[in-house]
Amino acid sequence: MYVAVPREHEPGERRVALTPDAVGRLGPLGIDVLVESGAGDPASLPDSAYREAGATIVETAAALYEQADIVVRAGRVQAEEVPALREGCVLVGWLWPRTSPELVQALCDRRITAFGMESIPRATRAQRMDALSSQATVSGYRSVVLAAEMLPKFFPMLMTAAGTVAPAKVLVLGAGVAGLQAIATARRLGAVVSAFDTRPVVKEQVESLGASFVEIELAVSGAQDSRGYATALTDEQQAQQQRELERHIADMDVVITTALVPGRPAPRLIPASAVEAMRPGSVIVDLAAETGGNCELTERGETVVREGVTVVGVLNLPAGMPLHASQMYARNIGAVLDHLVKDGELTLDLDDEINADAIITHEGRVTTRLLQTEAA
Ligand code: NAI
Repeated sequence: MYVAVPREHEPGERRVALTPDAVGRLGPLGIDVLVESGAGDPASLPDSAYREAGATIVETAAALYEQADIVVRAGRVQAEEVPALREGCVLVGWLWPRTSPELVQALCDRRITAFGMESIPRATRAQRMDALSSQATVSGYRSVVLAAEMLPKFFPMLMTAAGTVAPAKVLVLGAGVAGLQAIATARRLGAVVSAFDTRPVVKEQVESLGASFVEIELAVSGAQDSRGYATALTDEQQAQQQRELERHIADMDVVITTALVPGRPAPRLIPASAVEAMRPGSVIVDLAAETGGNCELTERGETVVREGVTVVGVLNLPAGMPLHASQMYARNIGAVLDHLVKDGELTLDLDDEINADAIITHEGRVTTRLLQTEAA
């Protein structure tokens, strides 16, 4: 069984799907790893490190795909890349089938068995495969590091002979995996941190990290679904949330927004008027930029200054810290391979609760129940 690791080609993507330490753990599964030459370079992982771990370096993508039984990817897979894959092989990577109908069609046409990392259910059994969480951890950390770099102030309180410096005030909106890591990172840097989420269950987690939970009047019923995800607010509730948050936001040096509702555009939490009310020099880092942004003034993939406030709409934050992001992702990929391969053979049970969601296409048809539920 050959597992292939190609180079990533999307601009700015510096992660790699398997790291040398992960390669070493695959031998017992009966897996041989092939790595396209240079695949690990952007993550500071040279070919020599893969060779030492037991992988074979292959010079070209064409030679790699020719032998691959399973192709593993770190970056988002594009429809145009599918024809290069060997017909009937397995592909494991970021597929986002809800928003990529052309990709799903291309995977069916090529009869690829496609396993979507974003579609793995958040069940306890699948925790080791949960790349949404591992990469959100990186995003949360990096969002604070970026904000600290851009803020014209210290984060910690300082008492020096040159005067006393007040600590920065940081507000985190959305306290899921990324938000909680942002809170922890901002606290480590010495900021005074507060946070808000529509799921009341996270209040305790926020407070256990040393941040305060912003108590706002918000009539939300059933803010969380059976999978632990937030449910969408009504337009009226969203307007109420914006009004209630606006006065907190005005007093902040940094606002990190991470609020998402699966399958929907990002909820709008910060209207332009709230940005205008902030002090010049303040920073907003919007981790929801990919799906429309939590801030009205966010520009997807850009950093802009509006009314003196820096609004960061950066995409793919994990790619900016590629070594650890890849190492964590490679652990998730290793767990997926462990789930799919037994004694060097592919074992596919489409009724298994993980596969029923995460296997998007198989033998020319769409199999994931995530799309079927939507169509119904
Ligand atoms: P996410 O990326 O979908 O959303 C981020 C956060 O935004 C969530 O906490 C959500 O409640 C919040 N949010 C949505 N709308 C909002 C609004 N209008 N205002 C403020 N906040 C808003 O979520 P993520 O981080 O992927 O995970 C969410 C939850 O899923 C976790 O906290 C946990 O309960 C559950 N989970 C369970 C796992 C497991 O293995 N059982 C693993 C990972 C997550």
